[in-house]
Amino acid sequence: MYRSHPLSASLRSIRHRPYFRSVLYGCLVVSSVYLLYRFVNPTYSIPIYSTSSWTDPFSGDLAESYVPAVETSADVWLGRAKSVKLSFLHGYHGYERYAQPNDEIRPLSNDYRNNFNGWGVTMYDSLDTMILMGLENEYNRAMPFIEKTVFSLPDGEFAPFFETIIRYLGGLLSAYALRKDDILLRRAEELAEKLDNVFATPSGFPLFGVNPNGQVVGPEIGILAEIASLQLEYTTLAKFTGKKRWWDRANTVIRALDNADLHKTGGMFPIRWNLTSAQPFDTHLSVGAQADSTHEYLLKQYLLTAKTDKANLIMYLRATTHIIAELLMLSPKRHLLYVTDTTFSTNEHKGRPSHTFEHLSCFLPGLLALGAHTLPLDDLASLGIDLNEIGNESMFGRSGKSYKLLAGYNLKTLHMWAAEGLAQTCWLSYADMPTGLGPDEMVMYTVGDDRWGKTVDGYKEGGGYLWMDAIEKWKSSGARGAPPGVGDKTPVIYTEAERLRGTLRTRDYSIRKSGYLLRPETLESLYLLWRTTGNDKWRDRGWKIFESIERHTKTPSGYASLRSVEILPAVKDDDMPSYFFAETLKYLYLMFIEKDPIPLDEWVFNTEAHPLPVIRWTQAEKEAFDIQ
Ligand SMILES: *[C@@H]1O[C@H](CO)[C@@H](O)[C@H](O)[C@H]1NC(C)=O
Ligand SMILES: *[C@@H]1O[C@H](CO)[C@@H](O)[C@H](O)[C@H]1NC(C)=O
Repeated sequence: MYRSHPLSASLRSIRHRPYFRSVLYGCLVVSSVYLLYRFVNPTYSIPIYSTSSWTDPFSGDLAESYVPAVETSADVWLGRAKSVKLSFLHGYHGYERYAQPNDEIRPLSNDYRNNFNGWGVTMYDSLDTMILMGLENEYNRAMPFIEKTVFSLPDGEFAPFFETIIRYLGGLLSAYALRKDDILLRRAEELAEKLDNVFATPSGFPLFGVNPNGQVVGPEIGILAEIASLQLEYTTLAKFTGKKRWWDRANTVIRALDNADLHKTGGMFPIRWNLTSAQPFDTHLSVGAQADSTHEYLLKQYLLTAKTDKANLIMYLRATTHIIAELLMLSPKRHLLYVTDTTFSTNEHKGRPSHTFEHLSCFLPGLLALGAHTLPLDDLASLGIDLNEIGNESMFGRSGKSYKLLAGYNLKTLHMWAAEGLAQTCWLSYADMPTGLGPDEMVMYTVGDDRWGKTVDGYKEGGGYLWMDAIEKWKSSGARGAPPGVGDKTPVIYTEAERLRGTLRTRDYSIRKSGYLLRPETLESLYLLWRTTGNDKWRDRGWKIFESIERHTKTPSGYASLRSVEILPAVKDDDMPSYFFAETLKYLYLMFIEKDPIPLDEWVFNTEAHPLPVIRWTQAEKEAFDIQ
């Protein structure tokens, strides 16, 4: 889910203060004592890693496999799940004590803030996590507030529609799905009613913001993530209430996306859209900020409708084909697979790759894994789909070549490789840091055309980059395992001196935004990689990240965003976003409990990690809603 954030921390002044070194040593002593304590604590075990066969053959001595030598017992996983639950309680009790019924707690000052309408967003975002964790008391204390929230705003203020839908409406619908408390559905529908004027555009795409009194606000040019991340919520609302009007809201957006002219962008949706004409306004492509959840909702709407709305599937296949062929890149030395965006452009010709890699984009490996897990990607013909027909050069110009290229591969394997490789890089962006937490934005080093999926005639040894058909040659030579960019790699942690010198390039990237905003995307992907592959290494990594969150972000009343992941001791910001409860802790919890209460073939997570049940329309609903 896209969220902009004003933070872009540069802590140069702090780095050079003379007392910094002694603070660092103090911190080392404290953390050693802490580690010793954790080590003798019986619910805690440090996984032991050893090398094994699944390595990146092209990464030379940087490659090392991470597979636990000792299997972690079920008891230990249970203890870990319990630790996550305790963290939830710690943060939520801080919110209840200092901030309720306002939006979010400020975990350093114990102040609060109203950044999402002031209706108590932390409660709404937390409800379903409480239900899943079995936190009856907290749930029961929240419900009277939920019941009496007044969904109103002063004149001239506006609810940001996108954030309000994914957090408030998504939270209410998910809690209702998990526990049929009627008040939840009543509040959900009332909220949707009060926001409904936002759709007063010729295209049916929503405007940016709306006041429950009916006033709306927003430019004619809308942002992709903000105008097309409502399909899951409104479809679910239609199912739960039996009302066609909510389905129409979702369906109008889906049909508009399906009818859009994408000949300039290879079948992928760009960021800016004209809300009058329902057509793209630019050719700026991204899977990160301002775009992410729309790509996500293509696959998820198909899954939510029990794989019946095929237009969404085809749009998903087009988007991922373009992403895999054009936006996946390989870094020069470590062969880190990453996804980038293009520079702004409204031209016929797309912008150039920017080589930035955002934390927000780390949902993509999980999405690709979910797609590979749930779709017959290796047999699209069984669905009557031919990649060469849904995209080709007569439709998309030069970009159309990607379809032919990918049609030559086992698409399931290819998507899974991409998922694993991207998840490796997201994980490494954490493991490379002294805090064990990943930065918000990196800029990857480049040696020119770094596209992972480009085909050329041969693999140029020493050239620093590798191409798809080189992968094929390598495979047919009898090598086993996955292609470059996919396997495990060894973290590279700069020492304090190396970091300050600032000249080392062994990590293959520099950091542009060094904060960690308690974001969920990497954990979300680790969760989905674990669920879809069954490989414990992914949840082991989840546990390591959780330990880092505990170690570096905890405050007496909650958890705080970090200003920089590169500095010890970590410097905190007075900020605890509601998505930490909705997403970050939920995915961690689901990763560690043994029984899966949210099977991926029965539930679909919205972009705020609120699970919604798969919908099977009855014949009567199909007729009433006019669903083909
Ligand atoms: C949006 O599309 C409408 C209808 O085609 C057009 O009149 C309008 O000028 C466009 N707006 C912008 C900002 O391009
Ligand atoms: C290209 O796509 C169009 C539209 O689906 C289709 O009619 C046409 O046959 C395709 N061309 C080739 C060469 O497959």
